[in-house]
Amino acid sequence: MKCLCLIAFLAIVIAPSYSDPGEEADGFVSRKGVQFILNGKPFHANGFNAYWLMYEATDPATRFKITYAFQNATMHGLTIARTWGFHDGGYRALQIAPGIYDELTFKGLDFAIAEAKRLGIKMIITFVNNYSDFGGRKQYVEWAKTTGQNVSSDDDFYTNPLIKQYYKNHVKTMVNRVNTFTQVAYKDEPAIMAWEIMNEPQCKADISGKTLTAWITEMAPYVKSLDSKHLLSTGLEGFYGDSSPQKKTSLNPDAANVLGTDFIANHNLDAIDFASIHAYPDSWFPNLDEKSRLDYLKNWIEGHLEDAQNILKKPLILGEFGKPSNTPGYTLAQRDAVFNVALDTIYASAQKGGPATGALFWHLISDNMTNFKDSLSIVLSDKTSTVSIIGQQSHKLRLIGGKGKLLSRKIKN
Ligand SMILES: *[C@@H]1O[C@H](CO)[C@@H](O)[C@H](O)[C@H]1NC(C)=O
Ligand SMILES: *[C@@H]1O[C@H](CO)[C@@H](O)[C@H](O)[C@H]1NC(C)=O
Ligand SMILES: *[C@@H]1O[C@H](CO)[C@@H](O)[C@H](O)[C@H]1NC(C)=O
Ligand SMILES: *[C@@H]1O[C@H](CO)[C@@H](O)[C@H](O)[C@H]1NC(C)=O
Repeated sequence: MKCLCLIAFLAIVIAPSYSDPGEEADGFVSRKGVQFILNGKPFHANGFNAYWLMYEATDPATRFKITYAFQNATMHGLTIARTWGFHDGGYRALQIAPGIYDELTFKGLDFAIAEAKRLGIKMIITFVNNYSDFGGRKQYVEWAKTTGQNVSSDDDFYTNPLIKQYYKNHVKTMVNRVNTFTQVAYKDEPAIMAWEIMNEPQCKADISGKTLTAWITEMAPYVKSLDSKHLLSTGLEGFYGDSSPQKKTSLNPDAANVLGTDFIANHNLDAIDFASIHAYPDSWFPNLDEKSRLDYLKNWIEGHLEDAQNILKKPLILGEFGKPSNTPGYTLAQRDAVFNVALDTIYASAQKGGPATGALFWHLISDNMTNFKDSLSIVLSDKTSTVSIIGQQSHKLRLIGGKGKLLSRKIKN
């Protein structure tokens, strides 16, 4: 359905928007009803995940990878970067031990934020991982155990008072950090769009979802008490719980019913500004055929958009999606279809004023980043058909509202 005139039309847009990205990125992103607002206008944007930003920027010799990734991203209309604001223990840790931070690693995150600011990218930064990559809940539990706390399961993270204090301390350190490149405190930095309370929180110890909801109910207002300027979300995958018995049956993969999350209850809190969902039909339904997975992907996104509109009354971001190249029978055309369905579904809601704000694919790497290359990584300079789809959809999304008018004036001239 895409005509050549649209592509030509888009080509005209790219050059001017690249030369002054900072201008339109200026303000803080805020929320009004189901929409985000930036500089007085509704804000829609696609983006990408790049969890490696701080890691690669810790070494000044590899900082150029961040710059390249951001420059290439904005050229493809991608202006939201989701990344990790944690690395608990291990090589190049940010938090070496509870409350102890490595200044070189923190400077790496400073650099990524400073580059985002310079190049017109808005960042979504996550405070901790559900899983053990880069430390995560498991590392927090280990730290508590070494001080003699009676903890054993990763899920003690949500209830042990000392661990909850460790988490709060990390939040406090992050929001009060003064960027060594810009001299702006993170809590005052408009290049940061939002914080996420955790990446993909789950709590199998309490499948009712109540433990996780209680934890978010405590932590979300805590974040807001220290930083009232930024938006906050959950980092949730979006699995339904007891608040939505019907969708729990019709949309959850069976395995998700024991993960202790509840999309509605976990987001239905004043301190949570927008809804987060992820979409991985390939791993959720390994035995389903490709067509059924695509239909599911559309239903999964639309089902949550409906709730964001009617129940939560908040914007929604598709925070992660992708197509693993190691899926049996994988083809590039399949990956393109996944990107088209995800990005089209988001666009359809956004262009009629619905709660969809944008989609962030998992995940972007720069050229030659063999250390982070995997079955889901995408290199924009590869110029594949998927990369064209990303560029076209993202420019379309960003043209919703006022920017379209500005553009037609430019074209007439
Ligand atoms: C895009 O990235 C490549 C390498 O990753 C780099 O050579 C090129 O300069 C980048 N483009 C821009 C506009 O930065
Ligand atoms: C979340 O963490 C638990 C371990 O506590 C793990 O079993 C589960 O697979 C993790 N979920 C994701 C999506 O990583
Ligand atoms: C540690 O916690 C477990 C489960 O919460 C409990 O059964 C056990 O009695 C506790 N042990 C100590 C020494 O407090
Ligand atoms: C990536 O590697 C290729 C081949 O090794 C090299 O020609 C190219 O310059 C490298 N690109 C970057 C951005 O380092």
